[in-house]
Amino acid sequence: MNIGIILAAGEGTRMKSKTPKVLHEVMGKKIIQYVLDACSEANINEKVMILGHGKEKIIETLKDKDFKWKEQPIGEDKPYGTGYAVMQAEDLIEDNATVVILNGDVPLIEGKTLDNFINFHKKNSNSASVLTAKLEDPYGYGRIIRKDDKILGIVEEKDASEEHKRINEINSGIYCFNGNELKEILKELDTDNSQQEYYITDGIKKIVEKGLKVGGYLIEDAIQIKGVNNRIQLSELSTEEKIRINKKHMLNGVNIIDPDNTYIEKDVEIGMDTTIYPNTFLEGKTIIGEDNIIGPGTIIQNSKIGNNNKIENSKIIKSTLENHNKIGPYAYIRPNCKIGSCVKVGDFVELKNTTIGDNSKASHLAYLGDGEVGDNANIGCGVIFVNYDGKNKHKTIIKDGAFVGSNSNLVAPIVVEKGAYIACGSTITEDVEENALAIGRARQVTKINKGKDRYK
Ligand code: UD1
Ligand code: CA
Repeated sequence: MNIGIILAAGEGTRMKSKTPKVLHEVMGKKIIQYVLDACSEANINEKVMILGHGKEKIIETLKDKDFKWKEQPIGEDKPYGTGYAVMQAEDLIEDNATVVILNGDVPLIEGKTLDNFINFHKKNSNSASVLTAKLEDPYGYGRIIRKDDKILGIVEEKDASEEHKRINEINSGIYCFNGNELKEILKELDTDNSQQEYYITDGIKKIVEKGLKVGGYLIEDAIQIKGVNNRIQLSELSTEEKIRINKKHMLNGVNIIDPDNTYIEKDVEIGMDTTIYPNTFLEGKTIIGEDNIIGPGTIIQNSKIGNNNKIENSKIIKSTLENHNKIGPYAYIRPNCKIGSCVKVGDFVELKNTTIGDNSKASHLAYLGDGEVGDNANIGCGVIFVNYDGKNKHKTIIKDGAFVGSNSNLVAPIVVEKGAYIACGSTITEDVEENALAIGRARQVTKINKGKDRYK
């Protein structure tokens, strides 16, 4: 069995934030969620988080996720350190388990890397293994002391001699231990170091001292082990993740005009030959088909977009669009809209909880809330579905081929039957029958010569 122990009790003071560090986001996803997902991908099925600072907020935020947690007591008089954090999970560590220890603030670690690392640990029959990388600037990290392929120890920056400081292979803070041996060395850790903390890294030295084997698994892709300690590092990792995601889509045939200014979250899917213009944000579980033109300046969240759509300077939330639609510029499609094919939703049109059938149009300046629009209907400029009476929301139903003239108010609940025609400027309060013409406005009065008198 694989157990993951995720250390996340630290205060994260350098973030200067009211939000616990691991709840900050990298490309729309919480740092801690990356770590949990990587564990799942690597078959680390039992996940134990060590929580302290910000514990309540973390548990509340992740309440529907699958993990256990242990509390690390926090306070001036309390011990501290990565070793002490691991001690909190002692009773959950089974003797024959492979225990993977991870830092909760290292988001870009990949499941595949963890998987290879666990295999490396097992295949070499190591008692402990350390995931390492070489950095041009290793400052701040623990340095790996090696003899050939054997690790002899890890020295923290603050305890390092000049000679140690020149070592550029660093400790990622990710380890594999055999359960029984880990429990043994946890009992032997002390705080005899410059920070007077229990270091988990001292556990590595203790295993070496027992004559047991510690292996180092060096990875090339050092970004995977970088931690977030401040907002500069947060933005560096976000940029790196953004470019990685964009490259993956480009290699899959998506045309991204300006990858530096295009923000696609990890779970988004995009089909071939879709083009994405700058300042576009594709978020959550959004699925986009082929041959679309999206952006510039478009935000799409948790939506499903078919093929051959053109969506410009618009925002779409939790909705579905089929094919060949033209959206925007400046359309706002709010949750639960279903748009068929060959539909036009033009400038300054807002939709909410509304379906629109094929070939229908709302070309300019309209609000369609809680509506059902059939096929081939025309919703004129300035039309409002008056859906709210101050207390309840009501439905507006416009059937196939109906034509709603400009600047009309449809006071819901209301049904406009097939082929009906609403004269512009009408306020419609009663259902309109099939093929009828409805006019609901005051008659014009024209007074001869009165215009001339207006300044008298
Ligand atoms: C640690 C390693 C260092 C390694 C680096 C990689 C030790 C002694 N040093 O240093 O060799 O290069 O990670 O990033 O392990 N935490 C707790 N409880 C505590 C202390 C820390 O849960 O009492 C958590 C933190 O929230 C954080 C993680 O452990 O998620 C790492 O702690 P941090 O203080 O950042 O360790 P580093 O000094 O970076
Ligand atoms: Ca750190």
